Amino acid sequence: MTDRTLALKSQRPPAELLYADELAQLAKHDSGPVPPGWRLSMKAVMRFIGGAPDIRRKIVCAPSLLERAMVTLASNRALLLVGEPGTAKSLLSELLAAAISGTSTLTIQGSAATTEDQIKYGWNYALLLNDGPSPRALVPSPLYRALRDGRIVRFEEITRCPPEVQDGLLSILSERLLMVPELADDNAVFAAPGFNLIATANTRDRGVNEMSAALKRRFAFETVFPIADYDEELALVRSELARLLAQDQIAVQPSDDVLEVLVTTFRELRTGLDKDGNAGERLSTVVSTAEAVSVAHAVALRGHYLRGDAGRPADIVEALAGAAAKDNADDLKKIRRYIEQRASRRKGEHWQAFHAARHLLPE
Ligand SMILES: Nc1ncnc2c1ncn2[C@@H]1O[C@H](COP(=O)(O)OP(=O)(O)O)[C@@H](O)[C@H]1O
Ligand SMILES: [Mg+2]
Repeated sequence: MTDRTLALKSQRPPAELLYADELAQLAKHDSGPVPPGWRLSMKAVMRFIGGAPDIRRKIVCAPSLLERAMVTLASNRALLLVGEPGTAKSLLSELLAAAISGTSTLTIQGSAATTEDQIKYGWNYALLLNDGPSPRALVPSPLYRALRDGRIVRFEEITRCPPEVQDGLLSILSERLLMVPELADDNAVFAAPGFNLIATANTRDRGVNEMSAALKRRFAFETVFPIADYDEELALVRSELARLLAQDQIAVQPSDDVLEVLVTTFRELRTGLDKDGNAGERLSTVVSTAEAVSVAHAVALRGHYLRGDAGRPADIVEALAGAAAKDNADDLKKIRRYIEQRASRRKGEHWQAFHAARHLLPE
C-alpha cells in the first residue's frame, strides 16, 4: 500500500486527502484570480469550505468570515481564530490550509512545553557533532518548511505557549524571514509566496490578552461563534455523524427524533435558554457542537455494537455525563434537573424515553 492509501485508511485522514477529489475538481474548473503561491482562487476556496450545489458545506459560518479570513491570508498579516472550544476553529484552519497550500499537516501544537526549537528549527545531534552546524544537520520546524515552500502553517492553541516563545514569531512575521545564525552561509530563509500562518486560541485557556501587544499587531483577529441556528446545528450534527458512521462502515444512523433530543439538550444546556427563550441553567463545562457530534457518534455505536439497533434516547443519557459534566458535580446536578424538569414536559415518545432514562446518570 502507498502512504496515501494508508493515510486515507487512518482514523483521521487530513483534509487534503479526504477531499482530494473535490480539490482536484475545483482546481480544474477554477477561473478566478489565484493569489501568489495559492493552489486555488478565493472563489474556489469559498466553495470548498462553504459548500456549493455539488460540494458539501464543511463549516457552518457567515460567508463574510471566510472572506475576511482569506483576504488576511493573502496579505502580510497572520490570522488568529479565537473562540470557545468546539467551534471548529481547528477544522477551519485545516480546511483553509488544505485548500490554499495543498497541505494541512504543517502544524505546531502549542502547549506550556512548546520551545523555540519547535517553532524555528532543531538539530540532528549525531550529524551536528560529526559535521558541525550544516544544512544537513538542521531539522526544520513546520514553520520553517512553510516559509521556505510558500505554504500555510497552522499554530494550534497559541496562547497556551509561554509568551517568550510566542514572541519568537515576531521577527519571522514582520521581516518574513527566518535567520539561522549557526550557519555561516545561506543563513536566512526567505518567505516564499503563499506563506502565512493561521493560529487558533481558546477563550477558555489563558487569554489572548496575555499575548504581547507587538505580536497581536501581526495578527488579524477573527472570533468564531457557536452555531446560532437550531436547524443548522441539527443538520451539521446529522451530516458529521453520517460521515463518521460511513468511516466505521455502519449503515444505520440514529433517527431524527433522537438527534432532536440531543441537539436541543446541548443547545439549552449551552445557552441556558429553551426554544421559547425561558431561562434555565447553563453548564460551566463547554457543551459545544463538537461534543454533540461525538455524543451522537457514541449513541450510534452503543446501538449498533451493544444491541444491533440505531441508538436510543437512553444512550444520550449514558453519554451525557462523561461528555458534558466531566468531573464537575454541579454540572451533573444541572443535567439531572434539566432532564427531570424540562424533558418531562416535552411532547413525544423520544422525550419521554429520555426522561425515563434519567436514573442512568451517575449519582
Ligand atoms: N460551525 C461549525 N461548522 C462545522 N463543524 C462544526 C462547527 N462547530 C462545531 N463543529 C464540529 O466540531 C468539530 C471540530 O471542532 P474543532 O475544530 O476541534 O473545534 P475547536 O478547534 O474550535 O475547539 C467539527 O468536526 C464539527 O463536527
Ligand atoms: Mg482546536
